[in-house]
Amino acid sequence: MTLRVSFFLGSLAVASLAMAQTSFLTNDSVAVFYPPHYDGKQHQPSPIFEREPVAVNQLTTDWPLHVSFSQKNGHSIAKIDIEDDVDLYGTGEVTGPLRRNGRTIELWNIDTPAYGVDGGSHLYQSHPWVMGLRKNGTAFGIIADNTWRQKITTDDHLVTFDSEGPAFRVFIIERESPQALMQALVNLTGKMSLPPLWSLGYHQCRHTYYPDGKVMEIADQLRRHRIPSDVIWMDIDYMDGYRIFTFDPKGFENPNRLNDYLHQHSFKTVYMIDPGVKVEKGYFVDDQGTAGDYWVKDRNGKAFEGNVWPGACHFPDFTRPEVRTWWATLYKDFMAKGVDGVWNDMNEPAVFGQHENTMPGDNQHKGGDGLTSGSHLRFHNVFGLNMVRASRQGLLLANPQKRPFILSRSNFLGGHRYAATWTGDNLSAPDHMELSIPMSLTLGLSGQPFNGPDIGGFCENSNAELVAQWTAIGVYFPFVRNHNTKGTIPQEPWAFTQKVLDVCRTAINRRYMLMPYIYTCFREASINGMPVMRPLFMNDSKDLSLRKEDRAFLLGPNLMVRPQWAADVAQPDGGSWQSFSLEDHADGYQAELRQRPGSIIPLANLAQSTAEIRTDSLTLLVCVDRDGLAKGQLYEDEGDGFDYQKGLYCLTEMKAIKEKKQLKVTLCQKDGLMAPTERKIRIGYVHGGKVKYSHWKTGNEITISL
Ligand code: GLC
Repeated sequence: MTLRVSFFLGSLAVASLAMAQTSFLTNDSVAVFYPPHYDGKQHQPSPIFEREPVAVNQLTTDWPLHVSFSQKNGHSIAKIDIEDDVDLYGTGEVTGPLRRNGRTIELWNIDTPAYGVDGGSHLYQSHPWVMGLRKNGTAFGIIADNTWRQKITTDDHLVTFDSEGPAFRVFIIERESPQALMQALVNLTGKMSLPPLWSLGYHQCRHTYYPDGKVMEIADQLRRHRIPSDVIWMDIDYMDGYRIFTFDPKGFENPNRLNDYLHQHSFKTVYMIDPGVKVEKGYFVDDQGTAGDYWVKDRNGKAFEGNVWPGACHFPDFTRPEVRTWWATLYKDFMAKGVDGVWNDMNEPAVFGQHENTMPGDNQHKGGDGLTSGSHLRFHNVFGLNMVRASRQGLLLANPQKRPFILSRSNFLGGHRYAATWTGDNLSAPDHMELSIPMSLTLGLSGQPFNGPDIGGFCENSNAELVAQWTAIGVYFPFVRNHNTKGTIPQEPWAFTQKVLDVCRTAINRRYMLMPYIYTCFREASINGMPVMRPLFMNDSKDLSLRKEDRAFLLGPNLMVRPQWAADVAQPDGGSWQSFSLEDHADGYQAELRQRPGSIIPLANLAQSTAEIRTDSLTLLVCVDRDGLAKGQLYEDEGDGFDYQKGLYCLTEMKAIKEKKQLKVTLCQKDGLMAPTERKIRIGYVHGGKVKYSHWKTGNEITISL
């Protein structure tokens, strides 16, 4: 048995205790269960954890959940008996409902276009993570520290991980609430670093805008139609024959000029980079990779070749540190052309015409830096994670002063440290729109706060009604991008009727007004792991009526979102949240918004891009509780760069008190070295289904009459 644990218990020697013990408590009070015959070389260093957890104590005798390990037909199995009446959540990128009891989820990353809406197919990512919520509101989380192909089964009394690989460790976290559980999860897996503010804006994409003139036209349309937006995306056709890190000499002959044009119109640019490198002598990426011997090998030790968009491709072996370093260098010249963000797609990896659309399991990876070499079976599920790890290194190398933005289709638990994600090639259909809510909620509960679907749907033609409805809720997801596939009708907000355009504009306007609040929620996610978009039960984990709700959801702690098409949703706090609208007239599509009593939500004035958003003029939506009190927070920093890590930010605490007919609101800097902004403030008193706005005032203490 090889145990790679650091163990400091009194003066006892590591080895003797490790042999005698099969379970420990880490310094963060997380239980680690080791199976007999555990071989750390098959699993460590773990991609899940930011650093190897340190075992410091013996497990307490009253620890509630235990793991029983077994081997059967070459499979390694871990079973965890759980109590009755536990609601289960998590399990990563999955279809089906939010509540995950009674499900089998296969963890094997596969390119699965137009997937079904309720279970069955395994998708692009794997998260060996199950969370449980007991009736009393306490929570537990289970991590199988295992990258091999496995199935999670969530029966009512039993959670099972059944793996085709060698015996693996299981970590169990016990906490008093789901909030504390999310914090404990990110203490292990690492925190998402703050994304650039622009990436929280509206993104317009399609497969594919071609040529560059079309991209400029889309930019012009967005501005002409006054659709607030921040980013335009370049799908594969910008490349020269799908060769990554090149530009099509006809359609994208001058990327600097295109990117300058977009920048002048306050757009950022995101370009696709896939892992498959066209096999071709004379193509610099292939030449460099071949010269360095950087490719994944087949079972005979020859560079593996598989077909993707460009035809036969080599695949970098991202398990190797020297390959990641080389890959990182490729971004320097590329980003210098004015590229702001990168889209890593097809990184399950997708390989056309092969079994399960991926590379053979007996392909070989070399590892390094403590990671032993091994078969693709071991590293398949972390191909995407290792790719985005290398890409992030590259973006930081190219632009050390900028926050990297990478969107990845494939990933693994822990991969939120490197990239945001979207839910792959969904379908333009109402059931996929409905599904997008539990899917994104579940990803958030699985440690990936920055995620969202292709709004309008990717596969097949969308339609006016669907784009209107989906945009009306999509703007409250962490990641907001309209995207569709080749050969389908256009689905930009203006592609249908004036009505659809108006609905989309109103919805996106709302997102931009909410941006100070949304950015504050992202900041929270980057510190305590709380999902930006979260289930209603996060408001009160003891309220059993909220446990299954997956049509209405929360954006941060204070805002509830109900899609128009979802009647009769569960209501937190006995229905006391106050409904309000940000417009004078209802269009029949906008989501119903409700504010938590006792909260303050900061809103910006309408802007056409995040670059225009100013917090020197804010509307504060105040919704007081039964005692007439409310409070909230506002986080501000430069929106990009890393100075915030040196304290250059401003965290403002806002408090309100209502006495008789007077409402007094005070603002006070609570943290950060950035000088507080001199602001004009307007109070929006949320009560009785309405917002009553005050006049604009200056100062940090404002009293208005109601
Ligand atoms: C994959 C991606 C999709 C993209 C297409 C072409 O299907 O999931 O988003 O548009 O490839 O690059």
